[in-house]
Amino acid sequence: MCVDVKSLIQEGADLTDRALEALIPSATTAPASIHGAMRHSVFAGGKRLRPVLAMQAGITVAGVLPKGIDRLGAGLEMLHTYSLIHDDLPALDNDDLRRGKPTCHKAFGEAVAILAGDALQTRAFEVLAGLECPPAATVQIIALIANAVGTVEGMIGGQVLDIESEHLKPTPELVDAIHRAKTGALIRVSVVSGGVFAGAGADDVARLDRFGSKAGLAFQIADDVLDVTADSATLGKTAGKDLATEKATWPAVHGVEQSLRDAARLIDEAFAALEPYGSRADGLKAVARYLVERKN
Ligand code: IPE
Ligand code: IPE
Ligand code: MG
Ligand code: MG
Ligand code: MG
Repeated sequence: MCVDVKSLIQEGADLTDRALEALIPSATTAPASIHGAMRHSVFAGGKRLRPVLAMQAGITVAGVLPKGIDRLGAGLEMLHTYSLIHDDLPALDNDDLRRGKPTCHKAFGEAVAILAGDALQTRAFEVLAGLECPPAATVQIIALIANAVGTVEGMIGGQVLDIESEHLKPTPELVDAIHRAKTGALIRVSVVSGGVFAGAGADDVARLDRFGSKAGLAFQIADDVLDVTADSATLGKTAGKDLATEKATWPAVHGVEQSLRDAARLIDEAFAALEPYGSRADGLKAVARYLVERKN
């Protein structure tokens, strides 16, 4: 396997950025403040890893990049950015820095930031409803994504667990549940929905789900490790925050060294699910490896 993962991610990010530019109202569209706030957070410099995972899952299933998958990526990125805007609010993690810029509520005030998060969520589903794929696949994608962002083992449920677990002594089971839900679910559904867009059948969906579930957990373990080992300038967000707020993190339970081993092992286990695809999954595997080897 020889994949230039940096260019592959850059190409996917560029496609995503172009779609987002076209799909989010301009900063002069009334009411201007909220469109400015949405754009501030969306175009602050995110890695676009969820869209890239969706695109590579599409290639894994179809053999080529499916036309129009950039709009699926844009929808996923809008949902992810909404989750970050709300994650940073004073009532949640209370952060000032995100993607190397002031957080949305620092730049636009709390009211507009809350509404910008809400607006990115509704716009995402509007975009997903217009995807260029068979109607049954569109409905399946919308249902899968809504579920992954929701309260039962989804992003919002995970954020509730995360907030309610601050200052408690975390157990391995608790951190596993938080991470699979708050972050893993959206990563998993990015992979699965990319496959469904490309025409995945039930067997493909099951394989991509197994792969995405392990890669998603590994991704949040890496995020926790970076919070301990990297600096704020590299991360574009405040480093050392988890320890300061006594968050339930993987390193808090297992230590940094074990966390690194766990993340690497999960990626190896994830690869097993992609065996039937042979070299068509090389790009997806390379991005998964990057999820845990990244520096920011
Ligand atoms: C950060 O996600 C938040 C988590 C879910 C851990 P990313 O590391 O993908 O952040 P961006 O999108 O590149 O800013
Ligand atoms: C974020 O987890 C998860 C979601 C945004 C849903 P974190 O709170 O660890 O993310 P960062 O470190 O602030 O990016
Ligand atoms: Mg958080
Ligand atoms: Mg946070
Ligand atoms: Mg974090």
